[in-house]
Amino acid sequence: MKFISIKEAIKKGKGNVAVRGWVYRERGSNKFKFLVLRDSTEIIQVVLKSEKFEKDWEGIDKITVESSVEIVGDIKPDKRAPTGYEIDADKINIIHVAEDFPINKDLNEELLGDRRHLWLRSRKMTSILKIRSTVLEAIRSHWRDKGFYEYHSPEILNLAGEGGSTLFNVDYFGKPAYLSQTWQLHAEPAIFALEKIFTIQPAFRAEKSKTSRHLAELWMAEMEEAWSNFENLQDDAEELIKDIIKKVLLENSEELKILERDGKKLESSLKKKFPRMTYTEALKLLKEKKKITVSWGKDLRTVEEDKLSELFDTPIIVTEYPKEVKAFYMKEPVTHPKDGKVVLGFDMIAPEGYGEIVGGSQREEDLEKIKNNLLKDGEDLGKYEFYFDTRRYGSVPHGGYGMGVERVISWICGLETIKDAIAFPRTMTRLSP
Ligand code: 4AD
Repeated sequence: MKFISIKEAIKKGKGNVAVRGWVYRERGSNKFKFLVLRDSTEIIQVVLKSEKFEKDWEGIDKITVESSVEIVGDIKPDKRAPTGYEIDADKINIIHVAEDFPINKDLNEELLGDRRHLWLRSRKMTSILKIRSTVLEAIRSHWRDKGFYEYHSPEILNLAGEGGSTLFNVDYFGKPAYLSQTWQLHAEPAIFALEKIFTIQPAFRAEKSKTSRHLAELWMAEMEEAWSNFENLQDDAEELIKDIIKKVLLENSEELKILERDGKKLESSLKKKFPRMTYTEALKLLKEKKKITVSWGKDLRTVEEDKLSELFDTPIIVTEYPKEVKAFYMKEPVTHPKDGKVVLGFDMIAPEGYGEIVGGSQREEDLEKIKNNLLKDGEDLGKYEFYFDTRRYGSVPHGGYGMGVERVISWICGLETIKDAIAFPRTMTRLSP
């Protein structure tokens, strides 16, 4: 008999079915053994009656949680069963009897972290990983549908893309090297060939903070576009987030339910335009609505971003930050507002306290300004020569942004920590498993 998934078996709802998977729960007496079987699609209750399995009963009695089995039997509705159906087994093939499974609901975060490779089997992690898969697919089709090419940059570099404070050092055949913080410096040269490009690839940040939002190894979805302008970049970032939410609501309602995440909280982000405000306007809002004073020129800290996001039920886009707090490659507008020197950079801040999910900018085209900014940061200009060539040979207006994949998953799933947005998180305190 052909094996079908548990979900397909439930859909069939009657007659003989063959399913296989792992034992999620078990209980028994000398007359019955009840198993809740799980596969990647669903769970289902299976009943084994000792009268039918006389000679195999000893083995059946020994089945433990996480044992792997194949079952053939009749499926029928049963209101008492966890997913409303039960299989009355006629045949069982015990593939492997599991040792005592070292996961239970009393484990603290540290122990669950140590046993992460086993915890992945939980309904929570399975649901998050399915949503993650949808998110990645949504990102890829968003840009592919707009004619962007997928393009990849190296992960081992000899220079900093986002400043020295979060660089991971690598011994590169005896020479100093770093893990890439962003694809950007190796993406800009490629827009002269491909014009519109994107990637979904790992980025590394040696974050020395233990927050619920920082990973040392994250996945970043980034785009870079020739002939862009500042508003179009923000439009695209807003459309990307909307496309992701749309696809998750369409394909993952069951997973959101398992995670007890109210999909309605995400719907307003689909329906409304994301409010846009300048940094200066954001400071004004913080002062008026939250009684928080930030002196002009200081970057917005996490607490301030959170307070600002409390005022909205969709992501917001904050633009035109003070030049001093942003990266060397961000463009200075031709006309400066009277209250200070700003750059055409933007951050998108998620609602519900999930923090910055996107950071991007229009890129500076003036090579002298770029060089001065790097010198101010104490960088060695020699390493950036290849990058300067992007401003020497057919320079065009261009820009791009990066979206933190795990930050977005964290928000969509309503997670307490970003660590659960990836199978094996890497943080300051966790390198294994
Ligand atoms: O704002 P960031 O630093 O932007 C850049 O790296 C640009 N070079 C991107 C570009 O223009 N191509 O990072 C982009 C996003 C952030 O908004 C945040 O969502 C995420 O990456 N991010 C992190 N996510 C988890 N853990 C960390 N340590 C993160 N650092 C950044």
